[in-house]
Amino acid sequence: MTPLDESVLSVRNLSVEFETRFGPLKAIDNISFEIGRGEVLGVVGESGAGKSLTGSAIANLIVSPGRVSGGEILLGGERIDNLPASQMRRVRGKRIGMVFQDPLTSLNPLFRVGDQIVETILTHLDCSPSAARKRAIELLGEVGIPSPEERIDSFPHEFSGGMRQRVVIALALCADPELIIADEPTTALDVVVQAQILDLLRALCDERGVAIMLVTHDMGVIAEIADRVAVVYAGRIAEIGRRDELISQPLHPYARGLMGAIPTVTGTDRELVQIPGSMPRLTAIPKGCAFHARCGQKFEPCDIRRPDLLDHEGRKVACHLYNSERRAA
Ligand SMILES: Nc1ncnc2c1ncn2[C@@H]1O[C@H](COP(=O)(O)OP(=O)(O)OP(=O)(O)O)[C@@H](O)[C@H]1O
Ligand SMILES: [Mg+2]
Repeated sequence: MTPLDESVLSVRNLSVEFETRFGPLKAIDNISFEIGRGEVLGVVGESGAGKSLTGSAIANLIVSPGRVSGGEILLGGERIDNLPASQMRRVRGKRIGMVFQDPLTSLNPLFRVGDQIVETILTHLDCSPSAARKRAIELLGEVGIPSPEERIDSFPHEFSGGMRQRVVIALALCADPELIIADEPTTALDVVVQAQILDLLRALCDERGVAIMLVTHDMGVIAEIADRVAVVYAGRIAEIGRRDELISQPLHPYARGLMGAIPTVTGTDRELVQIPGSMPRLTAIPKGCAFHARCGQKFEPCDIRRPDLLDHEGRKVACHLYNSERRAA
C-alpha cells in the first residue's frame, strides 16, 4: 500500500450526482482510492459502473446536470477539486494528461499533429517555439512514431489508429504530467497494437514515474499492466487490491465473476464470462448491497445494509461475507 504522502493522486469520499426532475441521482457513491508514483491502477467494471465519470471528476470535467457532490481530490498532496476554473485548466493540461478511446477526442483533424503538440507545450511550458518543436519531435520518438522529424507535419488522418493513439499519448505527455487518466485507450485497437500501446504506457510509468489510472472493461488489459485494481460496481468500489491477489483470489463475489473474464494465457479466447443478471440502473439501486440480487452468496444483511469498504487481510472489500461480526450475527 502506498503511504499517503507518496500518493500522486488521492481520491477521498468522492460522490457525483445528476440532478433530475425526480431529485438527485447518485452515480458515484463515496469512492476513495490512491495512486502512487509509477503505479498503474486498473479500474474495471461493467458498462455504466461509473469508471469514466470517476476520471472526469478527477479532471474536473463533469458538466451540468452532473456535479461533484462530496469528497476531495488531491494531486501531489494538494487539493485540486476546489480550484477556480482557470487554475484547473492549467492543472489539467500540465499535471494531468488524458487519453481516451477515440484519439480524435484529443486531436483536431484539421491541424498537423506537430502544431497541436507545439501549441500545448507553449501553453504550459516556458520555452521558445523552436525548442517546443524539438521537444515535440523527441516526444513523438519516445512514443514510438518512426521518423518523427517527418511525421510531425502530418495530419491525424495520415496515421493508423495505433499510431494516432501514440500521438495522443505524446500530447498527454507534453508538459510532463504526474498523472495520466487513460479511459479505454486500447479498446478500438487490434490485439497486437493494443499490446504495444500497453507496453508504452507501462514504460512511461517505469521510466518517468507517471501515475496512471487506466479505465478498462477488459480483464486481459488489467492482467497485463496494472499494479493494483479497483473493481467498481454501481458507483462504488466493490474491491481494491494488488493485481496478483485480486486476480488469483478475488474476494468479492462480483470480482470473482469478473475474474472469469480474463483471457486464457494463449490469448486467443477473449470471451467474457457472463455474470447472470445485470447491474441496476441508477434510478433503481436497491437497498443494501447493490450486487445482492445477482449474488450466489447473499445472506441476511445483504438486502438491508450496504457493506462498507473494509480492510480484510491487507486488502479492501465491500462485502458482508468478510465482516466477521455481521457474519456471526
Ligand atoms: N449526463 C448524464 N446524465 C445522467 N446520467 C449520466 C450522465 N453521464 C453519465 N451518467 C450515468 O452515470 C453512470 C456512470 O457512467 P460512466 O460513463 O462513468 O460509466 P462507465 O463505467 O464509464 O461505463 P462504460 O463502460 O459504458 O464506459 C451511468 O449510469 C450513466 O448512465
Ligand atoms: Mg466509460
